[in-house]
Amino acid sequence: MSLLAIIGGSGFSGLSSLAVLDAQSVETPFGETSAPVTRGRLGDSEVLFLPRHGASHHLPPHRINYRANLWALRQCGAERVVALAAVGGITERFGPAALAVPDQIVDYTYGREHTLYDGMADGVEHIDVTEPYCESLRQSLIDACGRVGCGIVPGGTYGATQGPRLETAAEIRRYERDGCDMVGMTGMPEATLARELGLCYASFAFVVNWAAGKSGTVITMKEIEDNVALCSERILEVLLALTAG
Ligand code: HPA
Repeated sequence: MSLLAIIGGSGFSGLSSLAVLDAQSVETPFGETSAPVTRGRLGDSEVLFLPRHGASHHLPPHRINYRANLWALRQCGAERVVALAAVGGITERFGPAALAVPDQIVDYTYGREHTLYDGMADGVEHIDVTEPYCESLRQSLIDACGRVGCGIVPGGTYGATQGPRLETAAEIRRYERDGCDMVGMTGMPEATLARELGLCYASFAFVVNWAAGKSGTVITMKEIEDNVALCSERILEVLLALTAG
Protein backbone atom coordinates (compact mmCIF):
# COMPACT_ATOMS: atom_id res chain seq x y z
CA MET A 1 0.00 0.00 0.00
CA SER A 2 1.32 3.46 -0.86
CA LEU A 3 2.50 5.69 1.98
CA LEU A 4 -0.28 7.76 3.55
CA ALA A 5 0.22 11.24 4.97
CA ILE A 6 -2.26 12.85 7.33
CA ILE A 7 -2.48 16.63 7.52
CA GLY A 8 -3.81 17.72 10.89
CA GLY A 9 -6.06 20.76 11.15
CA SER A 10 -7.74 22.58 14.02
CA GLY A 11 -7.93 20.26 17.01
CA PHE A 12 -5.27 17.99 15.54
CA SER A 13 -1.84 19.49 16.19
CA GLY A 14 -0.91 15.90 16.99
CA LEU A 15 -2.53 12.49 16.63
CA SER A 16 -2.91 10.81 20.01
CA SER A 17 -2.83 7.27 18.59
CA LEU A 18 0.32 7.85 16.53
CA ALA A 19 3.41 6.03 17.81
CA VAL A 20 6.10 8.49 16.71
CA LEU A 21 9.22 7.08 15.04
CA ASP A 22 10.97 10.32 14.07
CA ALA A 23 10.43 13.91 12.95
CA GLN A 24 12.24 15.39 10.00
CA SER A 25 12.72 19.05 9.01
CA VAL A 26 12.45 19.17 5.24
CA GLU A 27 14.03 21.89 3.10
CA THR A 28 11.76 22.87 0.24
CA PRO A 29 12.08 25.23 -2.74
CA PHE A 30 9.16 27.16 -1.26
CA GLY A 31 10.50 27.75 2.25
CA GLU A 32 9.53 26.29 5.59
CA THR A 33 6.83 23.76 6.32
CA SER A 34 4.38 24.36 9.18
CA ALA A 35 6.30 21.83 11.31
CA PRO A 36 8.73 18.95 10.84
CA VAL A 37 7.19 15.93 9.10
CA THR A 38 6.53 13.22 11.68
CA ARG A 39 6.82 9.58 10.73
CA GLY A 40 5.00 7.13 12.95
CA ARG A 41 2.84 4.05 13.24
CA LEU A 42 -0.91 4.10 13.26
CA GLY A 43 -1.84 0.56 14.21
CA ASP A 44 0.43 -1.61 12.07
CA SER A 45 0.94 0.93 9.31
CA GLU A 46 3.57 3.56 8.85
CA VAL A 47 2.18 7.04 8.13
CA LEU A 48 3.41 10.61 7.91
CA PHE A 49 1.84 13.42 9.90
CA LEU A 50 2.04 17.20 9.47
CA PRO A 51 -0.03 19.74 11.43
CA ARG A 52 -0.82 22.55 8.96
CA HIS A 53 -1.23 25.21 11.67
CA GLY A 54 2.11 24.25 13.25
CA ALA A 55 2.85 22.13 16.29
CA SER A 56 1.56 24.87 18.62
CA HIS A 57 -1.29 25.97 16.33
CA HIS A 58 0.27 29.38 15.65
CA LEU A 59 -0.26 29.71 11.87
CA PRO A 60 -3.54 31.27 10.68
CA PRO A 61 -5.02 29.81 7.46
CA HIS A 62 -3.69 32.59 5.18
CA ARG A 63 -0.13 32.24 6.54
CA ILE A 64 0.22 28.50 6.04
CA ASN A 65 2.89 27.59 3.51
CA TYR A 66 0.71 25.10 1.63
CA ARG A 67 3.27 24.67 -1.14
CA ALA A 68 6.07 23.74 1.24
CA ASN A 69 3.83 21.37 3.21
CA LEU A 70 2.64 19.38 0.20
CA TRP A 71 6.04 19.37 -1.44
CA ALA A 72 7.67 18.08 1.78
CA LEU A 73 5.14 15.29 2.17
CA ARG A 74 5.81 14.10 -1.35
CA GLN A 75 9.54 14.43 -0.78
CA CYS A 76 9.15 12.14 2.27
CA GLY A 77 7.48 9.52 0.09
CA ALA A 78 3.77 10.21 0.53
CA GLU A 79 1.54 9.20 -2.34
CA ARG A 80 -1.80 9.66 -0.60
CA VAL A 81 -2.87 12.52 1.68
CA VAL A 82 -5.86 12.67 4.02
CA ALA A 83 -6.46 16.24 5.11
CA LEU A 84 -8.41 16.73 8.33
CA ALA A 85 -10.62 19.78 8.04
CA ALA A 86 -12.79 21.48 10.67
CA VAL A 87 -15.73 23.12 8.89
CA GLY A 88 -18.87 25.12 9.52
CA GLY A 89 -22.04 23.44 8.28
CA ILE A 90 -24.35 25.23 5.84
CA THR A 91 -26.90 22.73 4.54
CA GLU A 92 -29.09 20.33 6.47
CA ARG A 93 -26.94 17.20 6.46
CA PHE A 94 -23.91 19.10 7.76
CA GLY A 95 -24.91 19.76 11.35
CA PRO A 96 -22.41 19.97 14.23
CA ALA A 97 -20.39 16.77 14.83
CA ALA A 98 -21.20 15.36 11.37
CA LEU A 99 -18.33 13.78 9.43
CA ALA A 100 -18.05 14.29 5.67
CA VAL A 101 -15.88 13.50 2.68
CA PRO A 102 -16.46 16.43 0.31
CA ASP A 103 -16.39 15.88 -3.45
CA GLN A 104 -16.32 19.46 -4.76
CA ILE A 105 -14.77 22.82 -3.92
CA VAL A 106 -15.56 26.48 -4.48
CA ASP A 107 -12.52 28.67 -3.82
CA TYR A 108 -13.09 32.10 -2.24
CA THR A 109 -9.54 32.55 -0.97
CA TYR A 110 -7.20 35.24 -2.28
CA GLY A 111 -3.57 36.31 -2.04
CA ARG A 112 -2.27 32.83 -1.22
CA GLU A 113 0.63 31.18 -3.02
CA HIS A 114 -1.56 28.71 -4.81
CA THR A 115 0.49 27.08 -7.56
CA LEU A 116 3.84 25.46 -8.25
CA TYR A 117 3.64 26.75 -11.84
CA ASP A 118 4.68 30.30 -11.08
CA GLY A 119 6.27 31.19 -14.39
CA MET A 120 9.65 29.88 -13.22
CA ALA A 121 11.69 26.98 -14.51
CA ASP A 122 8.73 24.62 -14.75
CA GLY A 123 6.80 26.80 -17.20
CA VAL A 124 3.02 26.92 -17.32
CA GLU A 125 0.74 23.96 -16.79
CA HIS A 126 -3.06 23.99 -16.58
CA ILE A 127 -4.06 21.01 -14.48
CA ASP A 128 -7.50 19.45 -14.65
CA VAL A 129 -9.48 19.74 -11.41
CA THR A 130 -12.95 18.82 -12.65
CA GLU A 131 -12.99 16.35 -9.76
CA PRO A 132 -10.71 18.07 -7.24
CA TYR A 133 -10.36 15.15 -4.83
CA CYS A 134 -8.91 11.68 -5.32
CA GLU A 135 -11.95 9.45 -5.77
CA SER A 136 -10.27 6.21 -4.66
CA LEU A 137 -9.13 7.77 -1.38
CA ARG A 138 -12.56 9.33 -0.84
CA GLN A 139 -14.11 5.89 -1.24
CA SER A 140 -11.51 4.32 1.08
CA LEU A 141 -12.42 6.86 3.78
CA ILE A 142 -16.13 6.19 3.31
CA ASP A 143 -15.51 2.41 3.46
CA ALA A 144 -13.33 2.77 6.58
CA CYS A 145 -16.11 4.73 8.22
CA GLY A 146 -18.56 1.97 7.34
CA ARG A 147 -16.25 -0.65 8.89
CA VAL A 148 -16.20 1.16 12.25
CA GLY A 149 -19.92 1.82 12.07
CA CYS A 150 -19.85 5.59 12.03
CA GLY A 151 -22.09 7.77 9.91
CA ILE A 152 -20.55 9.97 7.26
CA VAL A 153 -21.88 12.25 4.54
CA PRO A 154 -20.25 10.78 1.41
CA GLY A 155 -19.99 14.03 -0.55
CA GLY A 156 -20.69 17.74 -0.44
CA THR A 157 -19.23 20.98 -1.68
CA TYR A 158 -16.53 22.65 0.41
CA GLY A 159 -16.37 26.45 0.23
CA ALA A 160 -12.84 27.62 1.01
CA THR A 161 -12.88 31.03 2.71
CA GLN A 162 -10.02 33.35 3.50
CA GLY A 163 -10.41 33.68 7.28
CA PRO A 164 -9.23 33.96 9.90
CA ARG A 165 -12.51 35.68 10.71
CA LEU A 166 -15.74 33.74 10.38
CA GLU A 167 -18.31 34.78 7.78
CA THR A 168 -21.24 37.15 7.83
CA ALA A 169 -24.72 35.65 7.52
CA ALA A 170 -25.06 37.23 4.06
CA GLU A 171 -21.79 35.62 2.93
CA ILE A 172 -23.08 32.23 4.06
CA ARG A 173 -26.38 32.80 2.20
CA ARG A 174 -24.31 33.58 -0.89
CA TYR A 175 -22.14 30.48 -0.49
CA GLU A 176 -25.30 28.39 -0.11
CA ARG A 177 -26.69 29.85 -3.36
CA ASP A 178 -23.35 28.93 -4.93
CA GLY A 179 -23.93 25.31 -3.91
CA CYS A 180 -21.65 25.08 -0.86
CA ASP A 181 -22.59 22.63 1.91
CA MET A 182 -19.78 23.52 4.29
CA VAL A 183 -17.14 26.23 4.78
CA GLY A 184 -13.57 25.97 5.94
CA MET A 185 -10.46 28.10 5.63
CA THR A 186 -7.72 25.70 4.59
CA GLY A 187 -9.09 23.44 1.85
CA MET A 188 -7.57 25.66 -0.82
CA PRO A 189 -4.99 25.87 -2.26
CA GLU A 190 -4.10 22.61 -0.47
CA ALA A 191 -6.27 20.38 -2.69
CA THR A 192 -5.11 21.74 -6.04
CA LEU A 193 -1.44 21.90 -5.01
CA ALA A 194 -1.73 18.22 -4.16
CA ARG A 195 -3.08 17.63 -7.67
CA GLU A 196 -0.19 19.62 -9.18
CA LEU A 197 2.19 17.34 -7.29
CA GLY A 198 0.42 14.18 -8.42
CA LEU A 199 -0.69 13.30 -4.89
CA CYS A 200 -3.92 11.42 -4.25
CA TYR A 201 -5.63 13.84 -1.84
CA ALA A 202 -8.95 13.69 0.02
CA SER A 203 -10.44 15.87 2.70
CA PHE A 204 -11.89 14.33 5.86
CA ALA A 205 -14.17 17.08 7.15
CA PHE A 206 -15.84 17.35 10.52
CA VAL A 207 -18.45 19.95 11.36
CA VAL A 208 -17.65 22.05 14.42
CA ASN A 209 -20.42 24.67 14.20
CA TRP A 210 -23.40 25.79 12.16
CA ALA A 211 -22.11 28.44 9.79
CA ALA A 212 -22.95 32.10 10.48
CA GLY A 213 -26.67 32.84 10.51
CA LYS A 214 -27.68 29.18 10.43
CA SER A 215 -28.43 28.63 14.11
CA GLY A 216 -29.67 31.96 15.43
CA THR A 217 -26.75 32.20 17.87
CA VAL A 218 -23.22 33.56 17.60
CA ILE A 219 -20.40 31.09 17.01
CA THR A 220 -18.16 30.61 20.03
CA MET A 221 -14.75 28.97 20.40
CA LYS A 222 -16.25 26.82 23.15
CA GLU A 223 -18.83 25.41 20.74
CA ILE A 224 -16.08 24.70 18.21
CA GLU A 225 -13.85 23.03 20.80
CA ASP A 226 -16.74 20.94 22.17
CA ASN A 227 -17.51 19.64 18.69
CA VAL A 228 -13.85 18.89 17.97
CA ALA A 229 -13.89 16.79 21.14
CA LEU A 230 -17.11 15.07 20.04
CA CYS A 231 -15.59 14.15 16.66
CA SER A 232 -12.02 13.31 17.53
CA GLU A 233 -12.52 9.73 18.75
CA ARG A 234 -14.49 8.76 15.61
CA ILE A 235 -11.91 10.46 13.38
CA LEU A 236 -9.07 8.46 14.97
CA GLU A 237 -11.04 5.21 14.63
CA VAL A 238 -11.69 5.88 10.95
CA LEU A 239 -8.03 6.73 10.34
CA LEU A 240 -6.99 3.48 12.04
CA ALA A 241 -9.47 1.51 9.91
CA LEU A 242 -8.23 3.31 6.81
CA THR A 243 -4.61 2.36 7.43
CA ALA A 244 -5.60 -1.22 8.35
CA GLY A 245 -7.85 -1.66 5.34
N1 HPA B 1 -16.38 29.12 8.70
C1 HPA B 1 -15.17 28.94 8.13
N2 HPA B 1 -14.31 28.04 8.56
C2 HPA B 1 -14.64 27.28 9.61
C3 HPA B 1 -15.88 27.41 10.24
C4 HPA B 1 -16.80 28.38 9.76
O1 HPA B 1 -17.93 28.56 10.28
N3 HPA B 1 -15.90 26.51 11.27
C5 HPA B 1 -14.71 25.86 11.21
N4 HPA B 1 -13.94 26.32 10.22
